[in-house]
Amino acid sequence: MTRYTADSRDRVRDAVDMLAVVSQHTELRRAGASEYVGRCPFHDERTPSFGVNPIEKVYHCFGCQASGDVFTFVMETEGLDFVGALQLLADRFGVELQTEQEDPRAAGRRERRERLHNLLGRAAAYYARYLWEAQEARPAREYLDSRGLGEATLRDFRVGYAPSAWDRMLSASRRAGFSDEDLLAVGLAQRSKTSLGRIYDRFRERIMFPSTDARGNVLGFGARAMRQNQLPKYLNTAEGEIYQKRSVLFGIDRARAAAARAGRAILVEGYTDVLALHQAGLHEAVGIMGTSLTEEQISELQRVAKVLVLCLDADAAGQEAMLRAAQLARKRRLELRVVPLPDGSDPAELIERAGIDALRERVAASVPFVAFHVARILEQGDTSTAEGRDRAFRQLLPALRNLERGAFGDELLRRVAGRLELSEARLASLIEGAARQNGANGPADGQPAGYGPAHAPLDQAARAERTFLALCVALPEAGARMLFEVDPDRLITSEVMRRAARHIAGRTHSPLADLPPDDEVLARAVADLVARAGRAGRLSEDQLTHARLVLERARLERAIRRARAEGAVGIGELAREREAVLERIRQVVARLERAV
Ligand code: UTP
Ligand code: MN
Repeated sequence: MTRYTADSRDRVRDAVDMLAVVSQHTELRRAGASEYVGRCPFHDERTPSFGVNPIEKVYHCFGCQASGDVFTFVMETEGLDFVGALQLLADRFGVELQTEQEDPRAAGRRERRERLHNLLGRAAAYYARYLWEAQEARPAREYLDSRGLGEATLRDFRVGYAPSAWDRMLSASRRAGFSDEDLLAVGLAQRSKTSLGRIYDRFRERIMFPSTDARGNVLGFGARAMRQNQLPKYLNTAEGEIYQKRSVLFGIDRARAAAARAGRAILVEGYTDVLALHQAGLHEAVGIMGTSLTEEQISELQRVAKVLVLCLDADAAGQEAMLRAAQLARKRRLELRVVPLPDGSDPAELIERAGIDALRERVAASVPFVAFHVARILEQGDTSTAEGRDRAFRQLLPALRNLERGAFGDELLRRVAGRLELSEARLASLIEGAARQNGANGPADGQPAGYGPAHAPLDQAARAERTFLALCVALPEAGARMLFEVDPDRLITSEVMRRAARHIAGRTHSPLADLPPDDEVLARAVADLVARAGRAGRLSEDQLTHARLVLERARLERAIRRARAEGAVGIGELAREREAVLERIRQVVARLERAV
């Protein structure tokens, strides 16, 4: 990270024309000796409540309380970090920035990074020129044209073409003074496994889409095949010190300012989607280069906009990964919305087929991510049977547990309750019952209250009983048999677990069915068992047997203690029984150990 001197910062502040900077975003008029006013660029308003002091170079909005100096203004309106804003202003007002004295190792790392960025930037320029000038790139030009992508958009994104020869990039870069190690480090060249380990160009006969960071430094490429049978369809830069797929956002440098202005970013999957949206005037579009949004991408986007609109093929998107992303977004107070697309089509195709207004309409009709997610589970599940409703409940839990209380949450719960044939109050207690204790998924500090607070801890015996019952639910066939064989009054000590055992017996396939309407304690306990069963993963019947034997052992130990207190009558028999149980535990543990 480059560090500039405090003096550089002051010189930039002195040099900027505050009115010129702000006027790019809103019209200002004079309202006093050193005060200008206009409509606030940070919120929608009709009457101006945004004041600027061009001498102090500060602003304040009496409507939305936004305030700051020229640097924060540029950070907010352009979606930049502080250093980015400083560089932009230094550039615009002709100030030379001076870097702090760095320690030599940091300086070495920075210089290496700059050299590699420079190499990648040159490569992008080389490919771009090749696309527009080379004879062999003509089919690529025609193809892009046939996809409706115009020259201005393609040039703006530095789209290029990689020659078919094996060494063009190599020799051009060597001529410019880069080493083979540099070329390998940025993934422009690769080493052959045969022919004496010679190195050659990685990208050949492909349309080149450069990915950049927010400041426009090229990080790597997505390279689309042009020939039939040329695999893969997209060859991407391999993971390396500069390019990390998880954090790349294609088009972020072009989308940044527009997204900051619009207050939202539109996330699409493909390179061509990004180009098509920008060309159609939706400049806040970025590509997430995969079907699910990562934590790294969320961190980057957080700087740029508060609303993230997913515009991807929903079926392809890993639902689990998306749910995780939604939870991360929520932690950072970002709003995640989903644009429902016609099945199997991407936004670029939708624009080609139905026009930009069709896409705009869909974007305008986006829905909150949870609502979308919940609707899909209900659509795909069969809620006509008690078993199906139980399954749907289990699948819905992670989303419902984190739902924020409020009008929207209540409405969603109402819909879910209807589909699951439960009263709203009952659904709320089931969710509460199933909330993970002190769990990683529980509401974190400072989080808005959700529908699922943690519940009181159980003692050790009750925890073992709960484990047994959860396994009975997780393995409903074997569980039904076991519950038929045991006597809950003898085996189970906790009052609520005993009631849960009686309720579940005969209903291991659909434990949430037929819960008595007035017993919220039981409902919560059963919901908790269902949730635990849902998290249990792959299980064998031995695990269930083991859990049951643990309860048997505890029962015998209780009986022995009681017998001792009452004069040791029958204690020998109990001790023999316990020995037998211990032996069976040893056997089942040995089997479980062999199984892993
Ligand atoms: P698609 O196959 O939907 O491609 O993959 P596309 O973006 O619609 O491309 P065109 O319109 O056919 O040219 C979507 C995205 O998945 C990644 C790329 O980021 C691509 O844009 N992808 C796909 C790969 O990384 N490798 C592949 O082999 C395929
Ligand atoms: Mn496509």
